[in-house]
Amino acid sequence: MPAMINRAWKLVARPEGAFKPADFQWTEEALPELVDGQVLVRQIYLSMDPASRGWAGSSPTYMPPVALGSVMRGFGLGLVEDSRHQGFKPGDYVQGLLGWQTHAVVDGQAITRFDRDPALPLEAYIAVLSHIGAAAYFGLLEIGKPKAGETLVVSGAAGAVGSLVGQIGKIVGCRVVGIAGSDEKCAWLKDGLGFDATVNYKREAVLSRLRRLCPGGIDVHFENVGGQVLDAALACIAVRARIVLCGFISQYNDFVPPPGPRFLGNVLIRRARMEGFVVIDYEDRYREAMGPLARWLAEGQLRYRTDVVDGLEQAPAAVNRLFDGANIGKLLVRVSDEPSR
Ligand SMILES: NC(=O)c1ccc[n+]([C@@H]2O[C@H](COP(=O)([O-])OP(=O)(O)OC[C@H]3O[C@@H](n4cnc5c(N)ncnc54)[C@H](OP(=O)(O)O)[C@@H]3O)[C@@H](O)[C@H]2O)c1
Repeated sequence: MPAMINRAWKLVARPEGAFKPADFQWTEEALPELVDGQVLVRQIYLSMDPASRGWAGSSPTYMPPVALGSVMRGFGLGLVEDSRHQGFKPGDYVQGLLGWQTHAVVDGQAITRFDRDPALPLEAYIAVLSHIGAAAYFGLLEIGKPKAGETLVVSGAAGAVGSLVGQIGKIVGCRVVGIAGSDEKCAWLKDGLGFDATVNYKREAVLSRLRRLCPGGIDVHFENVGGQVLDAALACIAVRARIVLCGFISQYNDFVPPPGPRFLGNVLIRRARMEGFVVIDYEDRYREAMGPLARWLAEGQLRYRTDVVDGLEQAPAAVNRLFDGANIGKLLVRVSDEPSR
């Protein structure tokens, strides 16, 4: 039987500023034979994550840079087609770092099998029941420690993580203000997700609007973008505020980081706490988050939206949707068809 062909995007240049098509090379190569412990996965959905910009750079982040000439790193969901690992069999659904490719030959330890609830669309397992939901859940609840009646502000609010953070805040009983980059996004947050108020940071003066919307100060601020938005939020924090640093997407394409926030002194004056986190540190505890997230989905308390781009060929263009704000909700690339149910 002829060997199966794997189609992949390899990273061939370190991006300068935004990703360019020439940073990637399309390859079509025969898949290797499996050895003991390995699994062959057909990818169905590839997650487009802002972190990919850091992984493609030359400086180590919380993971080493992607080596030039290798398949671009990416989180994905797929179906096992062949297995020489006792924990997996053909037909199993799995998640993990499958990369920007149609098929992945991976060690069994590197992927996680999940049982699909037939009532849930498969997309839910990458938009919510994944590293995205885990980031929102642990970042907000363990680091932000929101309490009923408190004011929560979330930036990047109409994105994958931000839209879940705001809704979990509502479930906890917070008053939730979302910051996003268009009127369409703000309308979705209020009318579709039940946020109490919104700020369109591209059209409104963020600092004065936050002051008006949060007269008692911000108790929990969940930061996804950094820069001027974080600056404005720090100006408005309440005494004993918790500032959760999840992401700084506004700076990922910069050569030189911008000057630090102007109101950092408020962290001292208001006796606040600012703490960053990386979701992979919670990998051993994902199950703790998946139970409540799945229940909230089933109860209709948690909603999500996906922005699906068809075809792995589109991945280099699709990833930039995160940086120009074109996506609403979780950005995905559909690499292959879901199996019929
Ligand atoms: N710490 C962790 O473990 C962890 C895990 C997952 C994600 N993250 C971080 O969380 C953040 C959100 O990730 P995500 O996957 O949910 O992406 P996302 O929010 O779905 O997409 C990115 C959004 O960022 C906004 N944005 C882009 N450039 C911006 C700028 N210059 N200023 C303000 N907003 C800008 C855009 O929305 P607008 O239209 O509103 O501008 C865009 O839609 C990212 O910073 C990511 O790195 C961290």
